Amino acid sequence: TKRFGVLTAGGDCPGLNAAMRGLAKTAMGKYNMEIVGFYEGYRGLVNNNAKLMTETDFSGILHKGGSILGSSRERPFKDPEKVKKMVETYKKWELDCLVVLGGNGTQKRGYWLSKEGCNVIGLPKTIDNDIYGNDISFGFHSALEFCTDALDRLHTTASSHKRVLIAEIMGNSAGWLALYAGLAGGADVIIIPEIPYDIKKIKKHVEKRMSSKNPFCVIAVAEGAVSIDEANLTKKELKKKRKKSGLSAGYRVSKELNAISDFESRVSVLGYLQRGGTPTGYDRVISTQFGVKGAELLAKGKYNKMVAAKGLNVVSIPLEEVAEKVQIVPVDNIAIKSAKATGISFGD
Ligand code: F6P
Repeated sequence: TKRFGVLTAGGDCPGLNAAMRGLAKTAMGKYNMEIVGFYEGYRGLVNNNAKLMTETDFSGILHKGGSILGSSRERPFKDPEKVKKMVETYKKWELDCLVVLGGNGTQKRGYWLSKEGCNVIGLPKTIDNDIYGNDISFGFHSALEFCTDALDRLHTTASSHKRVLIAEIMGNSAGWLALYAGLAGGADVIIIPEIPYDIKKIKKHVEKRMSSKNPFCVIAVAEGAVSIDEANLTKKELKKKRKKSGLSAGYRVSKELNAISDFESRVSVLGYLQRGGTPTGYDRVISTQFGVKGAELLAKGKYNKMVAAKGLNVVSIPLEEVAEKVQIVPVDNIAIKSAKATGISFGD
């Protein structure tokens, strides 16, 4: 009997439970494997906070948000003692493999763990959709639905009050979520990190909109947005600047706009609401597919891979190829082109 561990790490999102359920049902039901669940991501592996899971543990969780195992931002590779403890825990449980559900950081740590002699399989989770080599991660669609609804709501109130409303959208250093939400929610302006914005150009676009027959405006700003003045700063310099201003992207854009225009913009930070709640039908489907693929890889002994979506297929790619990379939005992306074609400004 094969025995593998499972953990969910990094920021949570809808679909984690659906993916674990798909993995567990296939691994236990079809392949008769055993599963050890580690609590709170890599921290559970460090501290051996774990239990042998039963089929019942994975029952009734398809639609539930969050993770039945909990999560954390534990960074165990900062401390060699913790790395030693993780390998010890892996051996103590006599695992054949460890399945890690998470984003870039989680896949990277999974890869590092594989170099310590543990077998690892990754499943791609994140609302940011920024995992290298993967077309769509689970969690993204659910967050997109939430953001779309939020933009719809901002539309009606912006329209009633003839206001400029700014929605700040998560995504870390990638603009996928803001781009898709902006497109889905009919934003007039979309600001993403991949396209540094010129506030003067945004002002011009907003002014035009405000003097139209429909004088209101909705702006979708990615949390990682950078202005043209910041485009050449190093990561460190940018971090310092951000710390000094103390303002998140939505508030920065609002302040910059208010300083040079007659209209007053207001901000809604969508925040953690984007990560909460139940997975959409689409996320449940891809989470299940990813989980099943993970179990198939386990059965075949194909380790040190990440399960990935390629078009409509689910494939696997070496963890080594994924680790330490980020998938930002290519500037020739079809969604950007479509947005521009329909008159949306990116401030470039
Ligand atoms: O990666 C998911 C995410 O929600 C990002 O969009 C965001 O930048 C980050 O996590 C927030 O991190 P934390 O959960 O540590 O506040």
